[in-house]
Amino acid sequence: MRIGVFGAGYVGLVTAVCLAEVGHLLQVVEVDGDKVVKLNQGISTIYEPGLDELLERNVSRGSIWFTDDARTVVDHSEVIFLCVGTPPKPDGSADLSQIESAVRKIADSAKEDEYKLVVVKSTVPVGTAERLGRLVREEAGGRPITIEIASNPEFLRAGSAVRDFMNPDRIVVGADSEKARSMLRSVYESFDCPKMFTTPETSEIIKYAANSFLAMKISFINMIADLCEEVGADVTLVAEGMGYDKRIGSDFLRAGIGFGGSCFPKDIRAFLHVAKSRGIDFGLLEEVMRINNRRTARIVERLRTHLDGLDKKRIAVLGLSFKPGTDDVRESQAAKLIRLLLREGAIVKATDPLGIANFKREYPDLVEEVEFHEQAETAIAGSHAAIVVTDWKEYKTLDWTRIWNEMSRPVIFDTRNLLNPDDMLDLHYEYLAIGKEFMHLTAKTLT
Ligand code: UGA
Repeated sequence: MRIGVFGAGYVGLVTAVCLAEVGHLLQVVEVDGDKVVKLNQGISTIYEPGLDELLERNVSRGSIWFTDDARTVVDHSEVIFLCVGTPPKPDGSADLSQIESAVRKIADSAKEDEYKLVVVKSTVPVGTAERLGRLVREEAGGRPITIEIASNPEFLRAGSAVRDFMNPDRIVVGADSEKARSMLRSVYESFDCPKMFTTPETSEIIKYAANSFLAMKISFINMIADLCEEVGADVTLVAEGMGYDKRIGSDFLRAGIGFGGSCFPKDIRAFLHVAKSRGIDFGLLEEVMRINNRRTARIVERLRTHLDGLDKKRIAVLGLSFKPGTDDVRESQAAKLIRLLLREGAIVKATDPLGIANFKREYPDLVEEVEFHEQAETAIAGSHAAIVVTDWKEYKTLDWTRIWNEMSRPVIFDTRNLLNPDDMLDLHYEYLAIGKEFMHLTAKTLT
C-alpha cells in the first residue's frame, strides 16, 4: 500500500521503516530539513537497535523516502499515519498543536472526491479523533473532501522498538467505518497477532490505560520494596513469588529508582487531566505519580545516612538514560537524583554508555555542575559511593574487583538491583540495594 507518515521522530521513523520492511511504499514528512537529508542517505537520526540496517535497506530499494513537502506525501498516500509529538502543557494536558497542524495540511492538500484515511499513532487524549474530524470539516469549508480519522496507538518500548513493532502483542485499531478497518487490516496483513477493532474512543483509552497500569505495577512494587527494607525481606523474591500467579504476571515488577522516559510520566499526567475534566476522581493514579516522585529523595536520604552526610562527597552516577538500550534521557530519574545530590553538596561524576550528549542538551543547567565521564571506571575512581541508576548490562560486567581498590570508600548503591548481591558481598563492598537488607562484611576505612 502507499502509506504516508507525518513526523520522523521516534515513533514515526520506527513505524515508517518497519512498514516499508513488510512491503509497503512509504513517504515521510519531516519539517527538519537536516534530518530529511540524513534519512534519505539511509542514516538514522535516532539510536534504536536494528533500525539502521532496516532504514538503509529500504532507502536503497526505494521503498521509503523522506521530504519536508506535506502535499507530495498526501498525494502519494492512501493511508497517512500521524506520528508527531504531543508534549505536555504546563497543566499536564497533551499539546495537540502539531497534530492539528498536520491535519490542516492534509485537509488543504487533499483532492476533491478522494478518500484519505488519517491514522493517529501519537498518544492523544480520548476524544481527539472526533475533534480532528471536526477540524477537517472546518478546514474543508464545504469542499467535498473525504478524510476519515482513525486511532491506532503504538506500544513500542524505547530500546526494543523495532522488535516490538515486528512482533506486537496486539494491534489496536479504533475506526468508525468498515472501509477504514479494512484498509488497516491490509496495512497489518503480515503481522501475526491479535488484532482488535473498536471505536476511536476505546482505542485512545486503551493506550493510556495500558501505560498507567504498567506504571502502577512499578509504583506498587516500589512501595513493597520500602517495606521489605524495613522488615528485612527481599523484594526480588517477593516479586518472583507474586509473578508466578498468572493473574499478576512477573513483568514490570522490578523495584528500583522509579520510572522515567517520555511516556509514562507524561501519559499519566495527561490521563489524570482527562479524568479530572470528566469529573472522575482517579486518586489511584495520582498516588502512582506521588510514589514515583518520592523515589529519588528516599535514595538520597539512605545514602546520606550511610555516608554520614553528602557534603563534599564524590558520588559516581552510573547511567543517565531513563532505561538501558537507549540514549533517551527525557524525564530520567538520574537528572532528579543528581539535582538532589548537588543540593546536598555532593560532587557528582556521571557516566552513561550513550546518553551523555543528550543529557547535556536536555539539562543545560547541569552541564557545569556535573563532571561527565565516558568511562564508568573513571567516574567511579576516587568516589565515596557509586550509584547504579540505569540497569545497563555494561555495569554488570565492570571489573568490580579492580574498582574496589580505586574507590575512596567502596559503597555501591544499586538502585536497579542489577548486580549480584553475593558477589558484591564477597568483594567486601558496602552494598545498598532496593528492597533488600543492607549488606556488608568489611568496610574499607573512610579516606
Ligand atoms: C512504555 C511502554 O512500555 C510501551 O508499551 C509504550 O508504547 C511506550 O511507553 C509509549 O507510550 O510510547 P518505554 O517508555 O519505552 O515504553 O519504556 P519501559 O520499558 O516501559 O520503561 C519505562 C520506565 O519504567 C523506565 O524508566 C524503566 O526503567 C522503568 N521500569 C520498567 C521499572 O522501574 N521497573 C520495571 O519493572 C519496568
